[in-house]
Amino acid sequence: MINIGLVGFGYWGPNVAKHLFNNKKYNLHTICDYNKSRLEKAKSIYIGQVNYEDDYNVLLNNDDITAIAIAVETSGHHDIAKAALLAGKHIYVEKPFTSTIEEAKELDELATKLGLFIHVDHIMIFHPIIQKIKSITDSGELGDIMYIDGIRLNLGQIKKDVSAMWDLAVHDLSIIDFLSNGKEPFYLSAIGEKIYSPKETLVFLSLKYEGFMAHIQSSWISPVKERKLVVAGTKKMIVFDDMKVDEKLMIYDKGVNIISGENIEYSDYVIKIREGDVLLPFVTPGDALYNSLEHFAQCILEKKQSISGPKQAIRLLNILYEADNRMNK
Ligand SMILES: NC(=O)c1ccc[n+]([C@@H]2O[C@H](COP(=O)([O-])OP(=O)(O)OC[C@H]3O[C@@H](n4cnc5c(N)ncnc54)[C@H](O)[C@@H]3O)[C@@H](O)[C@H]2O)c1
Repeated sequence: MINIGLVGFGYWGPNVAKHLFNNKKYNLHTICDYNKSRLEKAKSIYIGQVNYEDDYNVLLNNDDITAIAIAVETSGHHDIAKAALLAGKHIYVEKPFTSTIEEAKELDELATKLGLFIHVDHIMIFHPIIQKIKSITDSGELGDIMYIDGIRLNLGQIKKDVSAMWDLAVHDLSIIDFLSNGKEPFYLSAIGEKIYSPKETLVFLSLKYEGFMAHIQSSWISPVKERKLVVAGTKKMIVFDDMKVDEKLMIYDKGVNIISGENIEYSDYVIKIREGDVLLPFVTPGDALYNSLEHFAQCILEKKQSISGPKQAIRLLNILYEADNRMNK
């Protein structure tokens, strides 16, 4: 069993705590938050079953704790992660991994040197539907991927330490990285607007990868919440709508056929739209956050690198950094 401490019990931390508490591979040893009301909230949920601290150094100095989960604001990830590694703890870090590429590389090198594991919660690649999409794309059923569209919109919470792109597009970028086995774009452009925040609240990111292109919308100022992914192949196309209760994943047997042969007289007849069946594939139910934490436990217990470790995180940060540099240019 892994004795783990959780730092950060704000909006997302309680979800991490719940799965750590329920997963038998973990013992949720201590919850830490320097905000007294958040710590009181934790106490009211896990009465007498977990320890509570307002200073994370207490967790780092406790030899019983072997791993630390970090669910504080992104700008606070690096310092806690570095201190935890130096204290000999494996670390689970919420997405996005760090605020800069240099910080990410430093943590990666430190973990390698100390023989410790880093798992970044790129939660979507642990989502059962994304794993299903991966098995479908790998099987060749979609044909060649032409493009991927990612749409992640909602109203608030407007953050000040990261832009909507760093907060939301990182999910879509991790999905593309996962589906393409780590491909990196050779061209990108981004437009965004800083409305109500010193960071962009609305960003449209366009990317070209070898063989396909992608477009990702991230917004904190949308009247409706949307979580949608389109993966369009030359044979079939997939739509994953995470806001639907049922029928989240649809495979459309639709596309474009190119008719060739001697009888073709006019070019107008060469390209034909193909309309076919729509399939609702069965997906084994599961929880993405549970799966992500389960993977982290396996990495520690089996001494293996996380599939969403610092190497993947650095590939994603490279894209976000480049998109920031090219924003509105
Ligand atoms: N995987 C996902 O789908 C998902 C969803 C939401 C948020 N997140 C990530 O989770 C992280 C936290 O986001 P949030 O929305 O919960 O933020 P939040 O601001 O609601 O909560 C952060 C909490 O950490 C505490 N904290 C900050 N620094 C601390 C320190 N040094 N010591 C002790 N406590 C400290 C704060 O008091 C606060 O309670 C972010 O990295 C965010 O990107 C991930």
